[in-house]
Amino acid sequence: MDNFAYWNPTKLIFGKNQLEQLKIEVPRYGKKVLLVYGGGSIKKNGLYNQVINTLREIDSEIYELAGVEPNPRISTVRKGIDICKNENIDFLLAVGGGSVIDCTKAIAAGAKYDGDAWDLVTKKAFAEEALPFGTILTIAATGSEMNAGSVITNWETNEKYGWGSPVTFPKFSILDPVNTFTVPKDQTVYGIVDMMSHVLEHYFHLTENTLMQDRMCESLLLTVMEIAPKLINDLENYDYRATILYNGTMALNGMLSMGYRGDWATHNIEHAVSAVYDIPHGGGLAILFPNWMKHNLMVKPSRFKQLAVRVFGVNPEGISDEEAGLEGIEKLREFWNSIGAPSRLADYGIDNSKLDVLTDKAMANGEFGNFNKLNRNDVLKIYQLSL
Ligand code: NZQ
Ligand code: ZN
Repeated sequence: MDNFAYWNPTKLIFGKNQLEQLKIEVPRYGKKVLLVYGGGSIKKNGLYNQVINTLREIDSEIYELAGVEPNPRISTVRKGIDICKNENIDFLLAVGGGSVIDCTKAIAAGAKYDGDAWDLVTKKAFAEEALPFGTILTIAATGSEMNAGSVITNWETNEKYGWGSPVTFPKFSILDPVNTFTVPKDQTVYGIVDMMSHVLEHYFHLTENTLMQDRMCESLLLTVMEIAPKLINDLENYDYRATILYNGTMALNGMLSMGYRGDWATHNIEHAVSAVYDIPHGGGLAILFPNWMKHNLMVKPSRFKQLAVRVFGVNPEGISDEEAGLEGIEKLREFWNSIGAPSRLADYGIDNSKLDVLTDKAMANGEFGNFNKLNRNDVLKIYQLSL
């Protein structure tokens, strides 16, 4: 196990009827609140009205930025920054999924930065300061509600990058499973794939003696695999939604990352695809992750075998680590297929015509991956396996 320091300042408020907590949390930061939300799901399911009414009760002065896109764009971030600067906003409240939260993080930091916010995303500048913000999460997926990361797309240049800073943790996040009841089946599945991928990105590392971390990762995967099939047939079941929601947060709030460095190459490879084709992040991961695994199986077959045996119930007797590992990868693919996730780029109408462009985008910052450093050839092969 490597040395580590763990710090996560986000207050997590989980459960039914927790919206009331806004009345305690928001006044700590000021009166002028910028409400940030997406394409309208919160208006359809009534959450928007509940939030507005609650903020009115504490006399908040409410401003709004609507229409944050899935794969949120820097152009929308810039609109939000203008509102913050022109109206002297005190506090931002993100109501939505990872896209709304990531956009809010970029607005919060951009409002305290003199240059263009794209500098923060491309790491030309570091966010030293940010406006305070909180979140009301509406979909279980990214973990953005309890981490400092943000992923922003520049649609003019087809670039999509992750960035973050200690100042971009939410002050609080309200997670009421009821607010996720209306997430449609396909988006529910993408979220499930995303949180499982976060666990897998952690799991593939080369550090020795991570017994407890391994078991924590395996526990998250086993729990999702037990509940996901039930949830997709019973979308308004509180207990299933609660389990998946908690799982999504735990998969990427730093709890799993202590004492080693995960891989994260598949996320980079996927971000290039959604930057060019604007596909859902979780859908892209479902296609790419098993192929990243196949490509890297021989880096440490025993690691793949451990996953196969402990999580996918593969019997290792009489077969090599490599064979057991491969069986585990097939079972992961089968599981994702069984809940309705895509398995080929062709499922999104993506053919081989832009593989070079995708590979260039993924390689923009040079070779990457911690379990195995990938070069251009490796990345191209993974895309080819995914067609
Ligand atoms: O925009 P609205 O109308 O709200 O609809 C959204 C959107 O169409 C809908 N939705 C969300 N909650 C709903 C709902 N529909 C009905 N009822 C509800 N309660 O779902 C769609 C997808 O929303 P989005 O926020 O895009 O999904 P997700 O949470 O999966 O976020 C994806 C983004 O996060 C980034 C991804 O790359 C992608 O851009 N990521 C962020 C990470 C982070 N900050 O830590 C890590 C991840 O690995 C990921 O890269
Ligand atoms: Zn992800």
